[in-house]
Amino acid sequence: MNAAVAVFDVNRIRKDFPILHQTVHGKPLVYLDNAATSQKPQAVIDAISHFYATDCSNIHRGVHQLSERSTRNYEEARIKIQQFIHAADPREIIFVRGTTEGINLVAQTYGRANVGPGDEIVISALEHHSNIVPWQILSEEKGAALRVAPINDRGEILLDEYESLLSQRTRLVSIAHISNALGTINPVRRMVELAHRRGIPVLLDGAQAAPHMKVDVQEIGCDFYVFSGHKLYGPTGIGVLYGKASLLDEMPPFQGGGDMISSVTFEKTTYNTLPYKFEAGTPNIEGTIGLAAAIDYVNRLGLDSIAAYEAELLEYGTEKLSRVPQLRLVGTAREKAAVLSFVIDGVHPHDVGTILDHQGIAVRTGHHCAQPVMDRFGVPATTRASLAFYNTREEIDALVAGIGKVKEIFG
Ligand code: ALA
Repeated sequence: MNAAVAVFDVNRIRKDFPILHQTVHGKPLVYLDNAATSQKPQAVIDAISHFYATDCSNIHRGVHQLSERSTRNYEEARIKIQQFIHAADPREIIFVRGTTEGINLVAQTYGRANVGPGDEIVISALEHHSNIVPWQILSEEKGAALRVAPINDRGEILLDEYESLLSQRTRLVSIAHISNALGTINPVRRMVELAHRRGIPVLLDGAQAAPHMKVDVQEIGCDFYVFSGHKLYGPTGIGVLYGKASLLDEMPPFQGGGDMISSVTFEKTTYNTLPYKFEAGTPNIEGTIGLAAAIDYVNRLGLDSIAAYEAELLEYGTEKLSRVPQLRLVGTAREKAAVLSFVIDGVHPHDVGTILDHQGIAVRTGHHCAQPVMDRFGVPATTRASLAFYNTREEIDALVAGIGKVKEIFG
C-alpha cells in the first residue's frame, strides 16, 4: 500500500457524510453512483445553511451589509476555484449551472461566432451526450460537420486517428477529460498539443475529472474547461466554465439580462467586462458558497491522496469483478479512474440494478447518457458502479456478493 493510501482514514472520512449512515431496504447503504452525483460532507451542508441563516442577499447591486457579505463570499468562491484549477486569472472563471450549460455556452457563443459552412468540430466516440448534442445543434444551424475520433476495444481514443481528423477546417476540439461511462482518462495534454500545433482551440469536459484528480488548466494548456459542482461533493445547479481571457473577451454574450451589461439604452447595449459578461441574472449564490466549501474539503484531504486511494480501490474492484464468471467489464483503459461498468450474460442491467438496490447497493444502469459508447461496445446498457474516496473495499465486496445474488436469481 503506498504512503498516501496508508494515511487515508476512510472510516473517519465517512463520518463527514451524514447520508452514508442509513439503511436502504433494511441493508446498510452502499453508494456506488458517484459519477452521477456524489454525496455532500457536513461542511458543505453547513455552509449553505449558514448562508441562508446569516448572509442571504443578492450580490453586486446592494450597498448594505448583507449584500456586501454575499458578494464577498461569491467572489471568494471564484478565487478559490481559480486556484483549484490553477487558472491565470479569476476573470477566467464563469459560474454556470453545470457542465452541460458550460458546453452549451461555448457552442452558442464561441461556436456561433467562429463556425461556418463546411467547418468541422472534432469530438470522440466516448463523449457524454452533453458533449455531442450542443455541437450537433450548432453544426445543423451552421452547415458544419461533426468528426468523431474512434476508440479501441479498451475504450481508449486512437490518437493517430484523432490527429488525422485535425485539419484546416477544424474550428474546435471538444473532448472528455475522463469518460463517464468507461472511466478512461484521456491523454488530454497530448491531444491539446496536437490541436494547438494547427491553431485549433480545445474544450475539455472535466465533469468526471475534477472530483478525482488534480487539474491544472495552464499545464494542460486547454482553452476551455468545464465541470459541475455536484459531482465534486458540492451542490447541484452550480458549475464552472474556465476559458482563456483572450478567447472569452472576444466571445459574444450567452444570455442577456442583469449584471451582464455595462449600459443599456433602447438603441444600444454595451456589455460588462469578464466574467460578468457571461453571468446574466441572479446567479446561484448558495451554489458557489457550497462549491467553495466542497473545494476546501477536498483540498484538506488532498487530491493526490484521493487519487491514490481511489486507484487502489479501482484495482481491487477490477480484480474482484474480473473473477466473476459471465461478467464482462466494459472499459478497460490502461489509464482509468473510478468507474466499473459491466454486463452480465443473460441479465439485463436494469434487473441487475434493481436486485442490487434491494440489497442497499446504489449503482446506475442504462446508457449513462453515452449511447454511442454503448453502440461501440455492442450493448444496450451497462451496470455502472462508480467510486468516490468514501467508498471501501467492504463495499466492493458487498457489490460482488450482490452480483452473486443476481446470478442466483437468474440461474
Ligand atoms: N452524467 C452523469 C452520469 O454519468 C449523470 O451518470
